[in-house]
Amino acid sequence: MSADATNGPPPGARPDWTIDQAWDRYTDAEHQVWITLYERQTALLPGRAADPFLKGLDALDLHRAGIPDFARINEELKRLTGWTVVAVPGLVPDDVFFDHLANRRFPAGQFIRKPEELDYLQEPDVFHDVFGHVPMLTDPVFADYMQAYGEGGRRALGMGHLANLARLYWYTVEFGLLESAEGLRIYGAGIVSSRAESIFALDDPSPNRLGFDLERVMRTPYRIDDFQQVYFVIPSLRSLLDVTVSTDFAPLYQRLETARDIPIASTEPTDRVFTHGTQAYALAGGRTQAA
Ligand code: PHE
Ligand code: FE
Repeated sequence: MSADATNGPPPGARPDWTIDQAWDRYTDAEHQVWITLYERQTALLPGRAADPFLKGLDALDLHRAGIPDFARINEELKRLTGWTVVAVPGLVPDDVFFDHLANRRFPAGQFIRKPEELDYLQEPDVFHDVFGHVPMLTDPVFADYMQAYGEGGRRALGMGHLANLARLYWYTVEFGLLESAEGLRIYGAGIVSSRAESIFALDDPSPNRLGFDLERVMRTPYRIDDFQQVYFVIPSLRSLLDVTVSTDFAPLYQRLETARDIPIASTEPTDRVFTHGTQAYALAGGRTQAA
């Protein structure tokens, strides 16, 4: 989420770190990467992705023609929830990121991954950001959550507690699961944009799947380099919005200063356990082992 802010925006970027998407300049090969990824994911996602995600994907018509033109997406997105997508060169500083979110702008990487890195990359590209994040922004409740998160982010920065708040983002916006009448569904952008994790997150016996609890989540570290060892399940988007907006995080941050972190793979007596994971994948060495 974060880039070094000390030198300001890179050459060619505006003071708010945005750039032109320059959609006309994508090559056919770049569009083809989008198409390949799009087809892989949409084949997997019915029955796995949460309804609001699938509805959003449909509404925005992000389909097979290649990398979408942000100007075109924005017409529909703006109409639906007042959000827009803006292009950035890559990761942006935290304060810049929060400022965009608080103003209902989602900063999306302009570049697309190379054909030889379809499955894993370090920095979010246009596929992760647009395919992964933007469909959920068509949902009015999630749209409000993301704006509130931006406002909460500015507050957390001021109080020096960004690390705790970042865990909330990680375990909801990036890697969240949603309960539905038909079973667990994925809505986190890091999952829905990854072929392997959209299967692992729901089907693999390795990770824990636990009921979402705000303070519990903020005490749980996360993996940035591999599949998660724990996923948190929300009963509804509304409940996520309600609990985060109605809770004043200041006393929470205060408590967290002395509370211990919860080990990443543990289940606590107070957890609602959907899956008690074997942790077999992580114990075998995870990605390094599988490579
Ligand atoms: N209520 C939070 C606070 O007091 C702000 C927030 C809302 C944070 C929604 C995240 C998501 O800081
Ligand atoms: Fe992301």
